[in-house]
Amino acid sequence: MCSIIGYKGRLNVASVLVDSLKRMEYRGYDSVGIATINNGKILIKKDIGKVADVNKSLDLGRMPGHTGIGHTRWATHGDVTYKNAHPHYGCTDRIAIVHNGIIENYKELREELIFLGHTFVSDTDSEVIAHLLERHYSGQKNIKKTVIEACRRLKGTYAFVAAFEDGTICGSRYDEPLIIGSVNNGYFISSDVLGFLEYTDKAIFLDNRDIVIVDSETCHIFDLDGNIVDRAITKVAWELAAIDKGKYAHHTLKEIHEQPNIVQKAGTQNLEKIEEFCNIVMNSKTLFLVGSGTSYHSALIAKHILSKFAKIRAEAIISSEFQFAFDDIDNTSVIIAISQSGETADVLQSVKAAKTMGARILSIVNNPTSSLARISDSSLSIDCGPEIGVAATKSFTAQLSLIYTIVDRLCNGCLDFEANKAFLVGALRQVLDTEIQIHSIAEGLRDARDIYIIGRSIHYAIALEGALKIKELAYVHTEGIAAGELKHGPLALIDRNSYVLLVNPTDMASEDNIASAYEIKARGAKIIGISDRPNNVYDIFIKIPSVKSTFYPIIEVLPFQILAYYLALAKDADPDYPRNLAKSVTVK
Ligand code: M6R
Repeated sequence: MCSIIGYKGRLNVASVLVDSLKRMEYRGYDSVGIATINNGKILIKKDIGKVADVNKSLDLGRMPGHTGIGHTRWATHGDVTYKNAHPHYGCTDRIAIVHNGIIENYKELREELIFLGHTFVSDTDSEVIAHLLERHYSGQKNIKKTVIEACRRLKGTYAFVAAFEDGTICGSRYDEPLIIGSVNNGYFISSDVLGFLEYTDKAIFLDNRDIVIVDSETCHIFDLDGNIVDRAITKVAWELAAIDKGKYAHHTLKEIHEQPNIVQKAGTQNLEKIEEFCNIVMNSKTLFLVGSGTSYHSALIAKHILSKFAKIRAEAIISSEFQFAFDDIDNTSVIIAISQSGETADVLQSVKAAKTMGARILSIVNNPTSSLARISDSSLSIDCGPEIGVAATKSFTAQLSLIYTIVDRLCNGCLDFEANKAFLVGALRQVLDTEIQIHSIAEGLRDARDIYIIGRSIHYAIALEGALKIKELAYVHTEGIAAGELKHGPLALIDRNSYVLLVNPTDMASEDNIASAYEIKARGAKIIGISDRPNNVYDIFIKIPSVKSTFYPIIEVLPFQILAYYLALAKDADPDYPRNLAKSVTVK
């Protein structure tokens, strides 16, 4: 949820850290801070806000040195305030730390350290790490022993990087990512490869409880018993250019516009890997699909088409609910975990639980080196390049495209996805052409208090996804409702102040949807129809092209993404960085 970075090398550290933090800001953007070490002194500068906002107050010109650490925060313990922003010193300025995760026993450690004379200044759980390190460092000044002793006391999830007055940086992790980037004459220690990809594609993925120490341009990795461990260097292949906004005002808009190309590219993934993945699916007795947020909506669509076309029954479950749902998982079960980041804590937790019960794990990720990919028996990448906007847009279409490819393989080509691709790409471009119309619809919805999105069958998942986009980007209460459920309760909410969007392309559900729309209209609500055919019941009509009915989800989600984006702008919200959220939710 937070991003952490450490660097020791030959470059001017302050600007290196800030550039790295900018690239990882999707992980959290409440506050920013860096600490640099120069001539045996650690200097911290931090402030509330995003990197671009606080850049000036960090006054990088006055932060010389070639070693340092940095952080962007997504608050868990303690308000968004200056004192809670990272880095944190211990009692003195000899050690500073940055942390991502939650230290579950921080209260107990804090009380113990206060009893021993330490003074805390923040409300964070993280500050205990600085004091704990300080405690073990004072006297012996042996950094390896210090970090081992401190890590032995920590409970919970963590990745931290610490800077010591002598110019050493070190870090450790438990269930939060921490990756070393190896550059000429130096090293990075980072939450994400994006933190150092501009400088190197040589990455070392640390295992849980590994400890890394970088001193005098050398990097040592130890286990908790102090034994040296050998971790392989992985070459990471991500196109860096993709994280620029290009000609677009926001990453989100750029990512929305990238979708035709993403569908175009889909299915070109390694065919052998798809084969391996499908064989595991076919050999399962019970199949579960897990994901959170948008990835859960992909799971719902996967469940639908697996059953309809491959005749494979699967359960789709929100990953945070998975642990409460099933006791009957065993070695005949297969879990397909869907996650853009591959780092979502809820997903990782459900997968780990299923693994201990003997299940095989398959995953669909965007980051092939993520924690989820690495603990899977087989993993496929959606390959849509880094998604920076906090709202999932292009990753959703990329997930769906890969799911179509997989199901097509499982039903011996009955979907004909490959043959339909060119047509779908054209259809996506046509929907993008409605951007101006949707922009003006968004202006009209500026003062809407409640928005309802209605869909049936496979389109219900899109109603949920559309509602999620509007909630998170524009902060408007929006509910996705199964059209058939309206009369079982939600209709009571509808009045002349309500806006109802109906996902209604022509298929076997559309007549029933029109009937529901009339019931809604009779209560005075305004209806916005999203369909390939106009209808008198719609007050506003957004036209989408006709495609083969199975593929509608990929097309019909776009108007919602565009609407949410422009509604965010109409309400003066930043669509790339919605309040209270972070892109990668690595805490439970
Ligand atoms: O990285 P993941 O796909 O596991 O993330 C899951 C959710 O946190 C994510 O989809 C979230 O709901 C998005 N902000 C939705 O736009």
